[in-house]
Amino acid sequence: MRISVIGCGYLGAVHAASMAHLGHEVVGIDIDEAKIASLSAGRPPFFEPGLPEVLESATATGRLRFTTDFSAAADADVHFVAVGTPQVADGDAADMRFVDAAFGALVEHVKQGDLIVGKSTVPVGTAARLAALIAERQPGATLAWNPEFLREGFAVKDTISPDRLVYGVPEGEAGERAARLLDEVYASAVAAGTPVIVTDYATAELVKVSANAFLATKISFINAMAEIAEVTGADVTKLADAIGHDARIGRRFLNAGVGFGGGCLPKDIRAFSARARELGRGESVRFLEEVDSINLRRRTRVVELVREAAGGLAGVRVGVLGLAFKPHSDDIRDSPALEIAMRLAEAGAIVRATDPEAAENARRRAPQVDVVDSTEEAVRDADVVVLITEWPEFTGLDPEEVGRLVAHRTVIDGRNALDPAAWRVAGWSYRGLGR
Ligand code: UDX
Repeated sequence: MRISVIGCGYLGAVHAASMAHLGHEVVGIDIDEAKIASLSAGRPPFFEPGLPEVLESATATGRLRFTTDFSAAADADVHFVAVGTPQVADGDAADMRFVDAAFGALVEHVKQGDLIVGKSTVPVGTAARLAALIAERQPGATLAWNPEFLREGFAVKDTISPDRLVYGVPEGEAGERAARLLDEVYASAVAAGTPVIVTDYATAELVKVSANAFLATKISFINAMAEIAEVTGADVTKLADAIGHDARIGRRFLNAGVGFGGGCLPKDIRAFSARARELGRGESVRFLEEVDSINLRRRTRVVELVREAAGGLAGVRVGVLGLAFKPHSDDIRDSPALEIAMRLAEAGAIVRATDPEAAENARRRAPQVDVVDSTEEAVRDADVVVLITEWPEFTGLDPEEVGRLVAHRTVIDGRNALDPAAWRVAGWSYRGLGR
């Protein structure tokens, strides 16, 4: 099929490369010239395992190209819109400017029979609004909403072999045709038996935000239990193992620690709350405000633990392990690790932080933090070591070896990812979160 992908950020670049990998003829379009130049040269502008290989092989076949010229969309029949919906600067809502601009530009180039597919995470009601715009400007084209559930670090795999496919389509013949076209786009996943849910626009939009709201709630639930465990001497990790054995609960997304960050969960739950308030149903998801507060409290707790451990923060040397919002990513958007490092530095601590992939991004964003290139440099002469992003490089550290580098053997395990017994045997004072 001939596909255009509007927006070549995280979602769009992965989608474009993956679609070409599946055999489609793809053009990726973005207004950011630097991004397009980088992708055209086969270099993703961010770290994502497996993406460089897929990008390179798809480009080599001639099936994938990138451009800043929107008119290139005219050569395609199916158009994916994958631009970002960040949080607005002055509130909780999603900033719809990029979506609106992308649709406005794209609609000039679509023809009779084309399918426009929204992938961005949007407030419920957006697809209906955009469908009306398309009906006015190009009545022969159809809109479908096909939310994306990819996780950073597994983005290519999640795109090529998703857990499920959700198609939000209009009623009637146009909707049936849209679903058939999407089945062709995702033919390999459909043939492999991937569940396909065909529904209306509003349900498709809500599936995405409710999935993220559920995941965020699960994490904040276990972090709330960690807060109770902290004052009772209970171990939240054992608790999660025990409740996780109940198949109705499940063990995944029950890791207590510094909580969730990244470019999706935090802003998506806030945008969902804002949208529910607009719809007069704020009370239905008021618990998400609590989910957000529990999550943000965990970051404060780590700063407090460092203060307690060192008897203050001014002049204390802190070695911070991890800056990305999660391992296998260079993404520092709403990263608990970066925020904690910045808050420690602002309180007068001498912070040296490191991350296998996010160091460069962190350096640009947080000049007050001394970002170094190795674990050794980060922990040398430290009074307190804080593990915040559970990269295997950090969780696999030998407590004895690290112990020889530091001034004091005090470790705060922000992800409950270390073996407390092994670190204590090596003479460390160990503090986890709710453990
Ligand atoms: C998330 C959703 O998983 C994905 O389906 C959606 O499309 C986009 O948002 P992502 O942001 O890539 O994906 O990361 P995810 O793996 O979900 O982790 C989110 C955050 O939660 C990370 O900061 C992670 O460290 C944290 N987390 C995750 C926990 O604190 N505990 C857990 O048990 C799991």
